[in-house]
Amino acid sequence: MSILSEIQKRKTFAIISHPDAGKTTLTEKLLLYSGAIQIAGAVKSNKIKKTAASDFLEIEKQRGISVATSVLTFQYNDININLLDTPGHKDFAEDTYRTLTAVDSVILVIDSVKGVEEQTEKLMNVCRMRNTPVIIFINKMDREGRYPIELLDELEEKLDIRVRPLSYPLGMGKSFRGVFNIYNNTFNFFQSNKTRVEEDVEVFTSLYDENLIERFGDSAKKLRDDIELIDGVYDHFDKDKYLNGEQAPVFFGSALNNFGVKELLDTFVSIAPMPKPRETTSRMVEPTEETFSGFVFKIHANLDPKHRDRIAFLRVCSGKFERNKFFHHVRLDRDLKFTSPATFMAQTKSVIDDAYPGDVIGLYDSGVFKIGDTLTEGEVMMYKGIPQFSPELFRLVRNTDPMKSKQLEKGLQNLTDEGLAQLFVQDMGNRKVVGVVGELQFDVIKYRLLHEFGASVDFVHLQSYKACWIKYDKVEDIDELQRIRGNNLFKDKHNNLVYIADSSYALNIAKEKNPKAHFLFSIEHNTGTAELENSK
Ligand code: G4P
Repeated sequence: MSILSEIQKRKTFAIISHPDAGKTTLTEKLLLYSGAIQIAGAVKSNKIKKTAASDFLEIEKQRGISVATSVLTFQYNDININLLDTPGHKDFAEDTYRTLTAVDSVILVIDSVKGVEEQTEKLMNVCRMRNTPVIIFINKMDREGRYPIELLDELEEKLDIRVRPLSYPLGMGKSFRGVFNIYNNTFNFFQSNKTRVEEDVEVFTSLYDENLIERFGDSAKKLRDDIELIDGVYDHFDKDKYLNGEQAPVFFGSALNNFGVKELLDTFVSIAPMPKPRETTSRMVEPTEETFSGFVFKIHANLDPKHRDRIAFLRVCSGKFERNKFFHHVRLDRDLKFTSPATFMAQTKSVIDDAYPGDVIGLYDSGVFKIGDTLTEGEVMMYKGIPQFSPELFRLVRNTDPMKSKQLEKGLQNLTDEGLAQLFVQDMGNRKVVGVVGELQFDVIKYRLLHEFGASVDFVHLQSYKACWIKYDKVEDIDELQRIRGNNLFKDKHNNLVYIADSSYALNIAKEKNPKAHFLFSIEHNTGTAELENSK
């Protein structure tokens, strides 16, 4: 089969949500519909009820690399769907942001009771950076949630995207009767059923159908009024706008009750983009190109200390990946071959011989990969767009066992290669600072340093407000900042200069006194060269 026909069969996406909106439940239901699993309850939740490192690690161990749910591959209507998993805990949000660079579209799940939440907004900002197409699923319609029109308004306002409902609920909570499919005038009746997958679909010629009014009385009239309002206020669905990330189609349903999921899946399969061209440091790469290329967006450690190997997850971007063929590791300028690349099918892992654009493969890694690494057939280029964000919490690393300095060094390098945290080393000293998104990560690092590397550390409070990467047009200009803020200047893993401001006041002063410096809150992961967004 040609590369083009392989590409046309593939859709690679992620389901994202604020924790508890229903991401795990929806994932499971999609697998159920596709036949990849037969019973509900097979997908393990990756969220942590009690926020303790031991719980997190226990869950990670249970999930294990052998049943890695990092990517789930399944078929639906002859389409190969690659669903990339994202962490359920907000403290590991950075992992989610990186995973979003490896997908071509997303389904965003919203809780109908809570509406747009903090993490929903952050995730949407990341999608917007890359104009990722978004389909929105408003979940938990079986609960007394917010008025649908109000939710739609909130989506537009807080997520800064035009929305277009493709279905609309009749009632909600106790009076939830079903969902009306706006386009083909079919009505899908709600029945609380957590395991069954067929649905009770009835066709009405129009919303003015007497039977509809007869059966549902005032609720049907309200539905009619709301739909008239929607048609008047919202633009018609425009597939191109969706594909450009300018308009998000919206569906209503209840993942727990298998309701509205099939419509979502059918629409997803028909409108979601196939693997798209991607930008590298030198040029745009088309998926249809003959020569293979891809990049590593996630590294998963083996939590069993006896097996230090890791799995690097690589997104294939062009050409054909082949087992046992030498490929070029651009950053290391080395050729490598892979004897057992793996894909993950629901609960099982299998070794594959080849993979095509859109596919995500797991490569056994003895420590050669970092996030953002690119493999090619020889061409020197690096995939762009893998963001590195300013962490939110910082702690100084204090070695509590000086005999184990080497182990500590190695452990910190390894864990930060994995993307678990960011490491900053003082520019004119040797203080080391670890920066993370959430408190739980410190506990996980401490635990893993001890159990996997035999190093013990304390994390010491550091007065800090924000870190920014500092870029200058001319190298000489750096002196002024060094003079006033030398103690707060660090280098990241890629040798980029980072300023950790201890207060917003200090940051403002530093900006004022260094008009030639660019203060950046995020940069490109692999090279640190291209800017994603400037600081405000
Ligand atoms: P997450 O991955 O986004 O964190 O969410 P998850 O699917 O784990 O769902 C969070 C909670 O919401 C779960 O309840 C789940 O059963 C519930 N839920 C998901 N979809 C629906 C829905 O359509 N309607 C209703 N009413 N609830 C829904 P839990 O009590 O936290 O967990 P569990 O004990 O049920 O597993």
